[in-house]
Amino acid sequence: MGEMDNAWTAVDDYLIERLVPEDEALAETRRSSAETVTPGIDVTANMGAFLALLVQISGAKRVLEFGTLAGYSSIWMARAMDDDGAVVTLDIDPAAAQVARRNFTAAGVAERVHVRVGPALESAQMLIEEQEEPFDLVFIDADKANNPHYLEASLTLSHPGTVIVIDNVVRGGAVVDEDSTDPDIQGIRTLMDRIETDERLTATALQTVGLKGWDGFLLARVN
Ligand code: SAH
Ligand code: DHB
Ligand code: MG
Repeated sequence: MGEMDNAWTAVDDYLIERLVPEDEALAETRRSSAETVTPGIDVTANMGAFLALLVQISGAKRVLEFGTLAGYSSIWMARAMDDDGAVVTLDIDPAAAQVARRNFTAAGVAERVHVRVGPALESAQMLIEEQEEPFDLVFIDADKANNPHYLEASLTLSHPGTVIVIDNVVRGGAVVDEDSTDPDIQGIRTLMDRIETDERLTATALQTVGLKGWDGFLLARVN
């Protein structure tokens, strides 16, 4: 990539500076992912703003997130909601949860964001057992190998009209490598196979380039 990569970065920098500059709480949230087990993999500011717009356009009052990290994407979505909105965000890394809670306070959204620590599939199963009210929007952005399971749990926790966004479904084009032994790629490909035949969902996916290289996201609506 090289040269193209530089251009993608320059354009993302430009778009973010013009349209969606980070305030200090978001900037600190991004920096603080250094304190987690998996630093630096939060969404870009323009993707965060895109998620926030989806929350507003769909009128979502309840958001479920798989993969909190330092809370960057949670903050964008929580800020897009009214005081009566709620984000439930799941992460396996206790250090991430601790950092995220600090960031939620600084960002002014601590009252409407709830972090659950543990393997996300277990936490989601608990939400199902607790008969948690269905969610209006789900953002799946944790370990990609479990994406098919996260989708299934999300469907159980959804209602007709629920919006589902899945991050990182292109991975520099690796998604089309049918012989890949990478569990993340297999997880994404199995996810695609499931969605292809799942009449509960209407879906599309778009490729993206930018600060995080070449990737993409999937957008679906529960029928
Ligand atoms: N959505 C965040 C980024 C999440 S990064 C943002 O854009 O700001 C992916 C996160 O998934 C990491 O914090 C990692 O700890 C978490 N994760 C990885 N495996 C997991 C699992 N099995 N269960 C729950 N969370 C997991
Ligand atoms: C990785 C995970 C992400 O959620 C992301 O946006 C980028 C990279 C990763 O696991 O490498
Ligand atoms: Mg991601």
